[in-house]
Amino acid sequence: MKILIINGPNLNMLGIREPDIYGKGTYKDLCDLVGSYALNKGIEVCIYQSNHEGDLVDKIQSAYGEFEGIVINPAAYTHTSVALLDALKAVALPAVEVHISDVSAREDFRKISYVRSACVKTVSGKGFAGYLEAIDYLLNNYGEKE
Ligand code: DQA
Repeated sequence: MKILIINGPNLNMLGIREPDIYGKGTYKDLCDLVGSYALNKGIEVCIYQSNHEGDLVDKIQSAYGEFEGIVINPAAYTHTSVALLDALKAVALPAVEVHISDVSAREDFRKISYVRSACVKTVSGKGFAGYLEAIDYLLNNYGEKE
């Protein structure tokens, strides 16, 4: 199975940014964790990060015909972006929404997710492990059956 992992704005600042909320692990730590997990599971992952909404739209569109699933942490664009919602609906791939922090327990504006209705599952508040849970979900529900 080929899975595209997409990370939105400021996630490149992990480790530096609000460590009390997002932990001390860096973005490289996250990439290494996801990369080695995928290797272990025998799946192919591509990990992408951008601070720009249009670039994230382009990346989602590029998954069409190339990937079998998407794991997306849209970061702040979760709470604002109809464009990301429409892109996910356009490619119609199974997508899992991930948040490192528990967005349901933070400010009210973080309780709103524009992308959620285009996602098959949301994992929130489980730190970096949430990405692994999302990969497992896609693999178990949409991976090739032996
Ligand atoms: C986040 C939560 C968002 O509200 C925030 O804007 C982020 C990260 C998370 O992973 O917990 O940048 O998506």
